[in-house]
Amino acid sequence: MKRTILTITVAAFFAAVSIAAAAATVTLPKGYEKWEKSKQQIDNDKKSLFYGIHYLYVDKKAMKTYKKGVGTYPEGSQFVVVQYGIRQEGGKPVQGKKSMVVLMKKDKRYKETGGWLFAGFTPQGKPSGIDPVKNCYECHVKEAADRDLVISRFADFR
Ligand code: HEC
Repeated sequence: MKRTILTITVAAFFAAVSIAAAAATVTLPKGYEKWEKSKQQIDNDKKSLFYGIHYLYVDKKAMKTYKKGVGTYPEGSQFVVVQYGIRQEGGKPVQGKKSMVVLMKKDKRYKETGGWLFAGFTPQGKPSGIDPVKNCYECHVKEAADRDLVISRFADFR
């Protein structure tokens, strides 16, 4: 009996490690710039994580559910957000430098984060080494537990 438990624990450990390793080597999906792109989203709240200007990119798989605004996203659905700085010029917000890129991809292996892979990238597209549970999931689950963790709404997309 003891041995069975140990085997299970070891297997779970390696499963967790391989997922963590996968997260570290995650790359941005090729060609996401060609997915449906949102209008410019301006966030003027300096305390917000998205303070600045950002654009959302939504792939074909995710779009149907996104438009409906309810339901579970199909496996493989993807969202990318590209974030830029912001500065005021003559009372008008002007887009600054690219500051970060984030990705959500529906992948049932990522049980800890609600069946989504969460990954953050530098402006150059390198993994930024964030903790997907503390730095991503916890906010998303708080804001959108009833919308399969997707916070933005199609109504604001265009
Ligand atoms: C403090 C809260 C918060 C944290 C932490 C956070 N997000 Fe978000 N995220 C948001 C909000 C709010 C939106 C919606 C933005 C909009 O409406 O344009 C969003 C949108 C997104 C989207 C587009 C899909 C959606 O849910 O609308 C992705 C992809 C995303 N976030 C990834 C991440 C990743 C990866 C991390 C961790 C590096 C992260 N987020 C951390 C609040 C958060």
